[in-house]
Amino acid sequence: MSDCDWLVTNESQCVPLEGKAQSIATKTYWAEKPYRLHRFLTDVEDIIWHESDDRVRLQKICPLVRRLLNSSEWILSNFSLPDPETGWSVQLHYDEPDFPITVQTVAWAPQSVSPIHNHATWGIVAMLDGQEQNTFWKRSPTSEFPDLIEQTGSHLLTPGDILCLMPEAIHQIKAIPQSGRDANGDEPTISFNVYGVTDYDRRCEFNLAQQTAAIF
Ligand SMILES: [Fe+2]
Repeated sequence: MSDCDWLVTNESQCVPLEGKAQSIATKTYWAEKPYRLHRFLTDVEDIIWHESDDRVRLQKICPLVRRLLNSSEWILSNFSLPDPETGWSVQLHYDEPDFPITVQTVAWAPQSVSPIHNHATWGIVAMLDGQEQNTFWKRSPTSEFPDLIEQTGSHLLTPGDILCLMPEAIHQIKAIPQSGRDANGDEPTISFNVYGVTDYDRRCEFNLAQQTAAIF
């Protein structure tokens, strides 16, 4: 477990997430008191109400994701196996109309590759099992190709890592078995995800070969 927190900026730069360190008293309290999903949802909703800056929201919500995963072990084993047709599955933990948070666990079959996409909302991805190779891209428009993108970097997420995504961050993920495991095995890559409210007019999938983007 590397337990690192990362931020992917709107320019798709992957940098360490800066945030206020928790005091020893807070850490002790967090370790001793159960932290359940309903409290997490309420705390995140409070942060969203009081803080409009997505970067600050991520800095404040990320430690709560760690606290939830450390306290509520049922989440770690609550996932659906990847669909053999699509190579992935989503286990929804919480989604309510007009409630500004979606909480879910996603499982990817080994070697599955996602489309290149943004999320058009803030997002947090906490790795539970397996590894996720992230490749990052940023918009680099020209007059001929307004949806042209260029790669900005890559980062391998391992269990214990958390990746915080700003709304315009563009990435593509590939699921990779955890090191030391059978590379040809079928153990999925599993992540716990929290998202804000998606702006569906801005959420895109990018086609690298054709240098185009499409709303999805
Ligand atoms: Fe994504």
